[in-house]
Amino acid sequence: MLTEFAGQPAVALRAPDGASAVVLLHGAQVVSWQPAGGGERLFLSERSRFGEGASVRGGMPVIFPQFNERGPLPRHGFVRTRAWQLARSEAGAGDALAVLQLTDDEETRALWPHSFALELTVCVHDDRLDVELAVSNTGDSVFDFMAALHTYLGVAEVESVRLSGLRGCRYEDFTTGTMHVDEAEAVRVIEEIDRIYYGVGTPLVLSETQRRLRIEAANFPEVVVWNPWQVKAAAMADLAPADFRRILCVEAALIEKPLPLAAGEQWWGRQTLIAG
Ligand code: BG6
Repeated sequence: MLTEFAGQPAVALRAPDGASAVVLLHGAQVVSWQPAGGGERLFLSERSRFGEGASVRGGMPVIFPQFNERGPLPRHGFVRTRAWQLARSEAGAGDALAVLQLTDDEETRALWPHSFALELTVCVHDDRLDVELAVSNTGDSVFDFMAALHTYLGVAEVESVRLSGLRGCRYEDFTTGTMHVDEAEAVRVIEEIDRIYYGVGTPLVLSETQRRLRIEAANFPEVVVWNPWQVKAAAMADLAPADFRRILCVEAALIEKPLPLAAGEQWWGRQTLIAG
């Protein structure tokens, strides 16, 4: 159902079992997810900026075709700051889903000279949120891309969470510019963290005192774990100073080997969150 969220056009999903989500057309950004019978699981900053050109601080920004500053494009690419089209939204017998689309235009081609079609499918059902990004090359030559679903998980207190499933993975630590292998049983966050984990093959589990979240990914080989912590958060105009404690970004990502997509080909990647 088309609605408004923070004065912006959005689609509200509600499954018959009560699971719900809200997706802004701007950036095709999921900004709220409540599993059936449960509370909000995503963080959204009350100081977020919305609308033309803005990137909304929270929910699940879609990153394409460049991750962070790993290339000449605006940071994290350009699709999170653009208006997408709603192609379809429906509630079925057990779930509710919406499909949003974005295609290249003069402005995107001025930044990145390729023809593409993106489709983001968001589906809620019971305790799950599935978000799938499909990328099609609609031009006549190959392009390479990176992509991510930059998920801001909402947590009660970030210092109390444990993120398991990354033991034994190689990671790049951006706070020090060094590479490591994670030997810890679980990731704990007690200071700024900004890591890309490579070759992640198993589901992750985020444990809090009162609740858990299972995080699965398909076709996204990397996981980014990010929390800006106090000093960087204080410098962010769109984040209240204490809100860094309420966030853990766990991002399903394709970064290390930008994917070459030939003319006429399609790729998809999916992230699934399961509340417990
Ligand atoms: C994360 C990066 O994915 O996004 C961080 O690893 C970055 O380095 C963060 O700071 C937020 O980026 P932005 O552009 O939304 O402020």
